[in-house]
Amino acid sequence: MPFSHNLRLILSATRSVIPINLAMPSATPRNTVLLNGTNELDLNHAAQLLRTDHLVAFPTETVYGLGANALSSSATSAIFHAKSRPCDNPLIVHIASPADLQTHNLTTQVSPRAMALAKAFWPGPLTLVLPLSKDSKLAREVTAGLDTVAVRVPKHPVAAALLAKAGVPVAAPSANLSGRPSPTCAKHVMRDLEGRVDAVVDGGELWKGGGWGVESTVIHVGQHGVDILRPGVIGIEDIRQVVGKILIRNGKTTDGERVRAPGMKYRHYAPRARVEVIAEGHIEQRIAELRQEGKLVGILAGEDICESNEGNAVVAVRCGRGDVEGFARGLYRGLRAFDGEETGVGKVDVILAVPPRGTGGMEEAVMNRLMKAASGEKVG
Ligand code: TXA
Ligand code: MG
Repeated sequence: MPFSHNLRLILSATRSVIPINLAMPSATPRNTVLLNGTNELDLNHAAQLLRTDHLVAFPTETVYGLGANALSSSATSAIFHAKSRPCDNPLIVHIASPADLQTHNLTTQVSPRAMALAKAFWPGPLTLVLPLSKDSKLAREVTAGLDTVAVRVPKHPVAAALLAKAGVPVAAPSANLSGRPSPTCAKHVMRDLEGRVDAVVDGGELWKGGGWGVESTVIHVGQHGVDILRPGVIGIEDIRQVVGKILIRNGKTTDGERVRAPGMKYRHYAPRARVEVIAEGHIEQRIAELRQEGKLVGILAGEDICESNEGNAVVAVRCGRGDVEGFARGLYRGLRAFDGEETGVGKVDVILAVPPRGTGGMEEAVMNRLMKAASGEKVG
């Protein structure tokens, strides 16, 4: 949804508690080792752990993922337990190169359009939903019973090296507890999953290392058009440049508003504080109003806005310099900080988020995540 500059308060939410799926048995305790993503021996060890059905979190160019051997039922079902993730939400399969689609017999066919998209954006933050091969050896848990499989080839050098060494397809959702913001550094992963996974490969802080900070775009290429199932780093215009003048639907289908990525129906993250998404021109007035009500206000915005309002509001993280990429890199980290994960940042009552204007793919992805944080609406 494009961000309208005139929109003052887009959404606000009631205070809510992070959801725990009570139907999910708790994860078996595990001893979590922290491995260094730039150390060859550590990477070999992580690859060996993946091959032997252990749970390994690792960095990608979007967010950290929680990986397991996608051919193993016990390994992939352990992902759902570790994250407390509902089991009808399928996982993305990560492979080292497009050739692995065939090597691992993941899909029956890749249409010319899907092939063109793979060529344009792999390795990179694009997930393609493809028809699942009838004699695929993927664990049933990965696809949650669907006849499609979501695949991506990550670009992050640590992810790429790890996948190449592992030699198995790796199923990996974001490495957070279900309902928490996706992690953008190893510390976030440890915070959520220490004792629930076997290893965390530290690839540094993604906001420093050129990571995107929001998840990949999930798309399905049909006969007549392309469906964007989850907005992400790659935007509709990027896709149009490759597929030309064909129908591109943004999560909506002709028979109503059928949501195609199962994860989109689940509740995403709602911080303890209420989130209000607000345009830059209204921030000072809104801070003043909230302060009058006795509220402690935090702001999630670019450097300039943070600086000019710092006296009246708490700044946890400066999200770039007014650019959407910078905002995205700071987004999940900032939300985690306001939940008390960063030393020196106190809890606030209301978070005012001021995303940069624009209608590109990243703006849409950022707005999508912020709206979920603001409304507590079920998404993915
Ligand atoms: O950037 C990313 O995509 C990260 C990194 C770790 O790769 N992964 C990630 O995974 O965000 P996860 O599980 O948090 O989100 C995957 C989304 C979910 O909404 C899921 O429902 C959808 O992809 N999905 C997976 N398989 C699908 C399929 N066969 N058809 C439609 N949607 C699918
Ligand atoms: Mg996720």
